[in-house]
Amino acid sequence: MHYSAHAVCSRQLTVVPEIPGWDSWLTALERRHLADLRMSEVARALRALSSTYVERRGQARGRALDGAGKRAAFALFYAPIHFMLVHAIVAQLGPAEHVTEVIDLGCGTGVAGAAWALSSARPARIAGIDVHPWTLAEARWTYRVLGLRGVARRGDLARVRLPAQGDAIIAAYTLNELAEPVRSRLLHDLVRAAERDVRVLIVEPISTAAVPWWPEWREAFQRIGGRADEWRFRIPLPDLVKRLDQAAALHHDELTGRSLYCASKSGRGPVRTDTIALG
Ligand SMILES: C[S@@+](CC[C@H](N)C(=O)[O-])C[C@H]1O[C@@H](n2cnc3c(N)ncnc32)[C@H](O)[C@@H]1O
Repeated sequence: MHYSAHAVCSRQLTVVPEIPGWDSWLTALERRHLADLRMSEVARALRALSSTYVERRGQARGRALDGAGKRAAFALFYAPIHFMLVHAIVAQLGPAEHVTEVIDLGCGTGVAGAAWALSSARPARIAGIDVHPWTLAEARWTYRVLGLRGVARRGDLARVRLPAQGDAIIAAYTLNELAEPVRSRLLHDLVRAAERDVRVLIVEPISTAAVPWWPEWREAFQRIGGRADEWRFRIPLPDLVKRLDQAAALHHDELTGRSLYCASKSGRGPVRTDTIALG
């Protein structure tokens, strides 16, 4: 996959190298999710899912992935978009470092962790965590088809403890689905992880209204030397995504997102402790 990127803040242009396995993953994705559904059904579900995400954010918490149509729409449309966006953001954040293991919080179908793992100088392992049972087989399938070593396990971020083994943590489009007390606790624990030299990357929609909690998170990340960015990428959409975009009249002419990032200050990764407590 080749694309040019335009970071709103730095106005930087770059070309990101090909992702191994990307085309065959997309082909397999289409086969997997269009076996029992027609494109028109997925497009209808995509419109409903999009309005859930855009218009009824908080109220839709936990119900977005209910139903075969919405799941297929998420897997076929949002997952490749999130993949491309995270891959492009990681490329913009600095030269590829070797990451050993990415912890993916709210992994969904596994794409955000996979995008970071594949951006590492050598592909990283992945540990995905998600509360929704449907996502786990999807994430495992994503890791397998992309040739990555990854595990996905069920866990509620309100209760689970962050695994200690990772040297990178990503939460892409997950924090918005959490209740405020859970998100606050996670902020505290992610800052502590970053202080231990774990790389932490948060990705969320660019719309300010979508993330009212962002200023507090941005200040907390900047206080410990992290950075906050808004991104607009002109990335040619894969044919499958383009067809759905047109069928659902969504008009994704550019891919946008915002991120918070704490790099490893030593470049060596985290100081080991037994667990990083979540709360
Ligand atoms: C919009 S999806 C994003 C998925 C994936 N990170 C991506 O970028 O495509 C949000 C994910 O967060 C998960 N999630 C929501 N609340 C959660 C919680 N309390 N604990 C674990 N996962 C949660 C959902 O099940 C869903 O898979």
